Amino acid sequence: MATTARRALIAGNWKMNGRAADGLALARAVRAQAEAAPGAGPELLVCPPATLVRAVAEAMAGGPVAVGGQDCHPEESGAFTGDVSAEMLADAGASHVIVGHSERRHGHGEDDALVQAKAAAGLAAGLTVVICIGETEAERDAGQTFAVLSTQVEGSLPPDATAANTVIAYEPVWAIGTGRTPTVAEVDEAHTHIRVYLGTLVSNAAAFRLLYGGSLKPANAAELLAVKDVDGGLIGGASLKAEDFLAIANAVPVG
Ligand code: PGA
Repeated sequence: MATTARRALIAGNWKMNGRAADGLALARAVRAQAEAAPGAGPELLVCPPATLVRAVAEAMAGGPVAVGGQDCHPEESGAFTGDVSAEMLADAGASHVIVGHSERRHGHGEDDALVQAKAAAGLAAGLTVVICIGETEAERDAGQTFAVLSTQVEGSLPPDATAANTVIAYEPVWAIGTGRTPTVAEVDEAHTHIRVYLGTLVSNAAAFRLLYGGSLKPANAAELLAVKDVDGGLIGGASLKAEDFLAIANAVPVG
């Protein structure tokens, strides 16, 4: 649960979903539902595929929902066929970028050094970065969860990360898109570990927001988002339905 010093963030990761028509319809529905329930709720963010960042940013302009990219290249520009830079995302209207998602780490062989370089590029472009970390099932079974999280936090955090420009998302790889979630106790100990370890790297670890991600849905959001060091969520599948995304946002405990 976020303290008043840490405003919760509810972030939707649309992944490789959305064409212009349905992506814009989803964006408009998220905006309309967010505006229908104004107040000091969580900060809201949607991360559409790169093809839709500009259109979704235009649809969200002036409203309560921020827009982010799902990945970026570490360089500003150049001969990197198929890549999108953080500068380009910012130019398209994004204010955030996700880096180090497990689908990038495992599907595209991205290591901590690359994730750190991407995060640094995001910061250089003026974006808030959401850095994903998380253990695989094999690592958990081998009792390596905390060691993996420490290594990923240390290796992925850019030198100029601050609580204002950097968010860390704990996403156990085995919980992503599987319908399985860690227990409340497991989330609690993982988040406590991340914050304590972060404290060895930065001076104000208590101010950083730590999101939980992996099969978050309206039915389990209240208990997971109430965990002490959970300051919001990163939502994949359930972010593709405006009602579910907002229901998760509304499950953030107040105060
Ligand atoms: P999920 O994805 O909510 O579909 O499990 C979460 C994520 O990958 O960020």
